[in-house]
Amino acid sequence: MVKIISVVGARPNFMKMAPIHKELLKHHPKVKHKIVHTGQHYDRKMSDVFFNELELPKPDIYLGIGSGTHAEQTAKIMIAFEKVIYRELPDLVLVYGDVNSTLAASVVCSKILLKSGKPVPVAHIESGLRSNDLRMPEEINRIVTDSIAEFLFVTEPDGKKNLTDEGIATTKIFYCGNTMIDSLRFYLNKASGSNIMEQLCISERSFVLVTLHRPSNVDNKRNLKKILSVFKDVNRISPERDIIFPIHPRTRKRLTEFRLSSEIESIRNLIITEPLGYLDFVKLMSSAKYVMTDSGGIQEETTALKIPCLTLRENTERPVTAQIGTNTICGLDIKLIQKKLIEIESGKYKRGKIPKYWDGRASERIVSNLLKITARN
Ligand code: UD1
Repeated sequence: MVKIISVVGARPNFMKMAPIHKELLKHHPKVKHKIVHTGQHYDRKMSDVFFNELELPKPDIYLGIGSGTHAEQTAKIMIAFEKVIYRELPDLVLVYGDVNSTLAASVVCSKILLKSGKPVPVAHIESGLRSNDLRMPEEINRIVTDSIAEFLFVTEPDGKKNLTDEGIATTKIFYCGNTMIDSLRFYLNKASGSNIMEQLCISERSFVLVTLHRPSNVDNKRNLKKILSVFKDVNRISPERDIIFPIHPRTRKRLTEFRLSSEIESIRNLIITEPLGYLDFVKLMSSAKYVMTDSGGIQEETTALKIPCLTLRENTERPVTAQIGTNTICGLDIKLIQKKLIEIESGKYKRGKIPKYWDGRASERIVSNLLKITARN
């Protein structure tokens, strides 16, 4: 029996893991897959909803870490996860994306030597992405995780190039596609049955969908105010368009702290909602006229859905979405954003192509490789 542990902690991890879990289940009982949830995200709306909607079982192990500074959160996960590793002695640990849970679990595994004298092997799903911006906590998480992981599964060609440029052997790198897009394709049909549009009284292509949670945008009052001015531009350029804004807890907190609550309430056609579940969100993404975001995953999902996406960040670690997909990296360049809004509204915005292997079968390819790897080791 091969024992594989997946470590997840924050919202974007869950949809990346779900299709891998389902694929691994096909090999039960030869393969036993256990899910460890660190508890980095703990609100029902940031966590449980996703487990339910993605048809995932309850985590086998819940570490209940919660929020904290980066050091606190990472350290607490490491202390708790080390005990899990000693108890479970897995053959392989899977980590996903770039959150603090990803970094913490990888570091723990790389320092525990098994009887064989080798560390607990780690496979990083969504490896090789680089924003080249070290002010972004996720960039540090990506670099450290990739430098110690044994097997690196990349989602786009740049991922492979970044890793080889950093001196990582090509034999460790696997280009299999994007498991987040596997989830998107699998649940698109089910999401079409969501009644979120009726609840919000909006219709297909009549609205823009916005998400914002990056510290660089929301922890800085000047930038947050700039974003509110972008909302006003949307009002001016397309007066009829609703702005749907499911708000992340971090962003909600900051709006209150910076005393911007009344300014945001004064924006016309703005509908603020609590964080939404997966199916409701997919329904909104696929029905929006366009999306404005600072999320990483949403840049990919909109490219897969061919929905225009304006990314309110200076850079992206997912360049394929801008090179061939529907994404434009706008930062907070107001002129550029206005230009793109006009292009979208006048039907002149690029159409975009879907990257290779974003076909809903990435997990199949990844698991097939994982089985070969575990058989070999
Ligand atoms: C984390 C990830 C980020 C990912 C994002 C998705 C890191 C470094 N960041 O950022 O890459 O894009 O998740 O959401 O791992 N909070 C709640 N309820 C929760 C979780 C958080 O209220 O369930 C509040 C807490 O006050 C916390 C703040 O939101 O301090 C931020 O949460 P945190 O997990 O630190 O980072 P995110 O901004 O969510």
